[in-house]
Amino acid sequence: MPSATAAAPQVSAFHHRDTGTWTYLVADPATRAAAIVDPVLDFDPRSGRTGLDSAAPVLERAAADGLRIDWLLETHAHADHLSAAHALRERLRAHGHAPRLAIGRRIGEVRRVFAPLFGLPDDASDERPAAFDHLFDDDEGFAVGALPARAIPVPGHTQDSLAYLIGDALFAGDSLFLPDSGTARCDFPGGDAAMLYQSIQRLYRLGDATRVFVCHDYGKDGREPACETTIGAQKRGNLHVRADTGEAEFVALREARDRTLAVPALILPSLQVNLRGGALPQPEANGVRYLKLPLDQL
Ligand SMILES: [Fe+2]
Repeated sequence: MPSATAAAPQVSAFHHRDTGTWTYLVADPATRAAAIVDPVLDFDPRSGRTGLDSAAPVLERAAADGLRIDWLLETHAHADHLSAAHALRERLRAHGHAPRLAIGRRIGEVRRVFAPLFGLPDDASDERPAAFDHLFDDDEGFAVGALPARAIPVPGHTQDSLAYLIGDALFAGDSLFLPDSGTARCDFPGGDAAMLYQSIQRLYRLGDATRVFVCHDYGKDGREPACETTIGAQKRGNLHVRADTGEAEFVALREARDRTLAVPALILPSLQVNLRGGALPQPEANGVRYLKLPLDQL
């Protein structure tokens, strides 16, 4: 989707059908610098097999367009899919790129909540090398080539949730879904519907023309999965929170809906690797890597 103005990145979207996740390749047309947002590692829970088949087209597209990947951006510690960021960092480094793998600084809070479940240290002292190259502060500015960018805190779904504003394009993470699908759930440990409401108000203060790219779409009522809308369209028509929706109304609706939702199928595999940017556990003495399945904890 190339765009005419200098502040508009070229955005390519890749849908992961198994988990309804959108991965984005975000490029500055002027400098050919680029970021990859929320890449997905394939994971078959039946066989335990992981793979990069879904992430490979992102790298192929970047190579075909002559892009230099400077950033691997995680919007939050996902609970529904494994991140491919760590694996892509290795692969990109092998091909001469120097991407920085980044997430919000409050990944530390998420880690303190979930690390004990997996017997991991509750800080990052076990990481060799460090899982993340950069931890964004709230509203920290950065750049993708010549495009100005900012990490906007959107806690509520998780404590560490960020939305990335790159030029005129907002990568919303798990905050707003498409207008017909509403918002992200807030019932994980550390989640908070009132906090998500306040986060969405922060996004609604962006200009109405701001392009919004969602983290997930499940193709509501049989329509094709889609990924793009605008702040103006959200304010006018979001299923859960419009410009004039009050906090108490949203919180009641969100919490009622969350009481009906099942635990995500991949929450246990996902969190234990996504706390570390998608780095799989080290192999044991037999050379095999294992994930843990804590019993009777969730
Ligand atoms: Fe999420």
